[in-house]
Amino acid sequence: MDSYISPVELENAYRLINHGPTVLISAAHRGVENVMAAAWACALDFSPPRLTVVLDKTSRTRELVEGSSRFAIQVPTAAQLQLTRDLGTTSLVTEPCKLVDSGVELFYIDGYEAPFVAGCSAWLACEVIVEPHNQKTYDLFIAEVTGAWADRRVFQDGHWNFENAEPQWRSLHYIAGGQFYAIGEPLRAQAKESATAGA
Ligand SMILES: Cc1cc2nc3c(=O)[nH]c(=O)nc-3n(C[C@H](O)[C@H](O)[C@H](O)COP(=O)(O)O)c2cc1C
Repeated sequence: MDSYISPVELENAYRLINHGPTVLISAAHRGVENVMAAAWACALDFSPPRLTVVLDKTSRTRELVEGSSRFAIQVPTAAQLQLTRDLGTTSLVTEPCKLVDSGVELFYIDGYEAPFVAGCSAWLACEVIVEPHNQKTYDLFIAEVTGAWADRRVFQDGHWNFENAEPQWRSLHYIAGGQFYAIGEPLRAQAKESATAGA
């Protein structure tokens, strides 16, 4: 594991995807590893931290997630733009060499089953909370976050620090047809006395 990767308290894990980035979802089952891009990933709860992802039935990654009940979410960087696009436009179903061709580098963290993608800015280990109706009808998977890490060059003390990191660390935000935005400038709103903590 890269020495810049630092653990993130689980109570702050939601912050790794609270800004709505496009993510990479990785999973492994019975010796098969895979990664796909996903724009539809969302924080769901603080404690325990939970999130949702939409995994289409055609994706091979979904099969691995259903088989292992584990997956990892990672936040790719602007430097990984092409990698993110490639992992989202090729399928292991039709392209057995998808991972090699994309050049993606995977690593493992002791105690976690799913592979993680190197070079990202944040990683969340997830365990599926099995909800067959949601999965079958809406392709919607709910998961609990069981581990979280971030690269301290861009996430420190529980907060993103995009404004002071190199531009290649910015997160990607997908529209359609290969068009992404990198996260923009920080804007800080004033807190009201009645505001809830952390909001
Ligand atoms: C930027 C981007 C975002 C995507 N978001 C999602 C998503 O949220 N859910 C989904 O099921 N597919 C999404 N896709 C499509 C999958 O990544 C794509 O079907 C991929 O080829 C699946 O790979 P696999 O079959 O090897 O698992 C997205 C694709 C791109 C390029």
